[in-house]
Amino acid sequence: MSEEIELTGQIVKHYGSDKGMLIPMMQDLQAECGYLPIGHLRCLAERLDVPLSRLYSVATFYSSFRLAPKGAHDVTLCMGTVCYLKGSPMILEAISREFNVEAGGTTADRLFSLQAVNCVGACALAPVMVVDGKYYDGVTPQSAIEIIQAFPCEEETAEPSAKEGAK
Ligand code: FES
Repeated sequence: MSEEIELTGQIVKHYGSDKGMLIPMMQDLQAECGYLPIGHLRCLAERLDVPLSRLYSVATFYSSFRLAPKGAHDVTLCMGTVCYLKGSPMILEAISREFNVEAGGTTADRLFSLQAVNCVGACALAPVMVVDGKYYDGVTPQSAIEIIQAFPCEEETAEPSAKEGAK
């Protein structure tokens, strides 16, 4: 029995095949795999007899779900109201274009995963980007790209300026 069939079987059984428990099932699946692999989602959809598109809708609606493996670094861009008004959509577009990654995705080289979230609780510093827990304030499309480009050389170069843990 393949791993995806076995794992989804265990999860579905744990919730008594209750379709109303789809989100907890997907959370369990992600906890096991680190993300939501397409093969596992397909298996889960078949076992529950629900369209795969429904699982995709759930996975893309909730920012906590990942459809790709996690990258080495976590980049979180705030899209909350204050950051939004101060230009975060342009920052998101610049990052996506430069590194060919969408919000919720991971770069092909697995260097980083990109998430767009609502308010990281540091509105006075807007627009804010958080990288591996470090807060970068007043970022621009260009500075965001430069911060991310510094990742591979982090140990060799001076650390980019950051407001660690600022909230
Ligand atoms: S809106 Fe971005 S930190 Fe609050």
